Amino acid sequence: MSNLDLTLPKIYSEAQDFMPLNGTDYVELYVSNSKQAAHFYKSAFGFQSFAYAGLATGLKDRESYVVVQGAIKLVLTSPLKSKTAIGKHIDNHGDGVKVVALWVNDATAAYETAIGKGARSYMKPIITDYQDGKMVRSGIYTYGETVHVFVERTEYTGHFLPGFVKWETPDFNPPSVGFKYIDHMVGNVKLGQMNTWVGFYEEVMGFTNILTFDDKDISTEYTALMSKVVSNGNGRIKFPINEPAQGLKRSQVDEYLDFYEGEGVQHLAVATDDIVGTVRALRSRGVEFLQIPNSYYQTVLDRVGHIDEDIDSLQELGVLIDRDDEGYLLQIFTKPIEPRPTLFFEIIQRKGAQSFGKGNFKALFEAIEREQAVRGTL
Ligand code: FE2
Repeated sequence: MSNLDLTLPKIYSEAQDFMPLNGTDYVELYVSNSKQAAHFYKSAFGFQSFAYAGLATGLKDRESYVVVQGAIKLVLTSPLKSKTAIGKHIDNHGDGVKVVALWVNDATAAYETAIGKGARSYMKPIITDYQDGKMVRSGIYTYGETVHVFVERTEYTGHFLPGFVKWETPDFNPPSVGFKYIDHMVGNVKLGQMNTWVGFYEEVMGFTNILTFDDKDISTEYTALMSKVVSNGNGRIKFPINEPAQGLKRSQVDEYLDFYEGEGVQHLAVATDDIVGTVRALRSRGVEFLQIPNSYYQTVLDRVGHIDEDIDSLQELGVLIDRDDEGYLLQIFTKPIEPRPTLFFEIIQRKGAQSFGKGNFKALFEAIEREQAVRGTL
């Protein structure tokens, strides 16, 4: 049991857990240059070299570098030739998340349950059983071209996944910045599709809709969006799903859908125990964050009350604060990490609060609108 389980509100136990999920296994991004992307995630974000599969292991069509930090594993995959499914994905979407892999005890049962409840198949159960023991994987589609791969590693003793070897880089291992685990992953879907995908996670995977934000909760003078959060039974997997809402100008979700050319993962929120130390380290390594106006900090403590952290440090770094019935949270958002304004990271530190920073939505979305205005996409 992790600390996370001890603080879960009762609502998580109401999920129908017909598909037990142990947690996120890995997240795979299709990227145009996996070797350089791995360097970026090490040097800028503090990930560590972990695993490799490619030409040197006998693959002819793709190369993957795997980096790790805390419980988070990112797989960075590029094609080695033209006209591949991976290359087409990159051509359509830019660099982006293809696979959100879920760790299960029985990947065959998870697949059959999901398919039986209407999921679209991505990969029938594949069993590999060599000297490293048995691994079973299967997969289903979710929104857009994004997929969930179920990973059963109960009887597997090898490194990461079959076909991968250890990736060791004795001369270049920048330290961790303190990422612990994935707190939540957000998907952006088209207008009218939020409830479709909430229904998918409820019916196909036994998730529960734990929070709902309408366009009045998430709006500024100009733009709006709607969001619902679904969680699995043990609360380790939380997927907020956003859809655009009518506003005077085009929302960040519209901008994402245009540039990603479809539905997909908008951000990965990673947990830290020390957001000030983590964000200082990230800034010193060149990671750029959304700018929050000083006026936010003049009134924030009136809204959230006492916090343990030094407010001047939070203001200097642009960290946002919110409180709910169970405690408070600290959060900050990077700028998009690639040329298309699509994927970004959130850094979050929870101090009791299990919510998502509703009190910060307005300040956050105004910050995004300023960025959109610079890009000419507002
Ligand atoms: Fe988030």
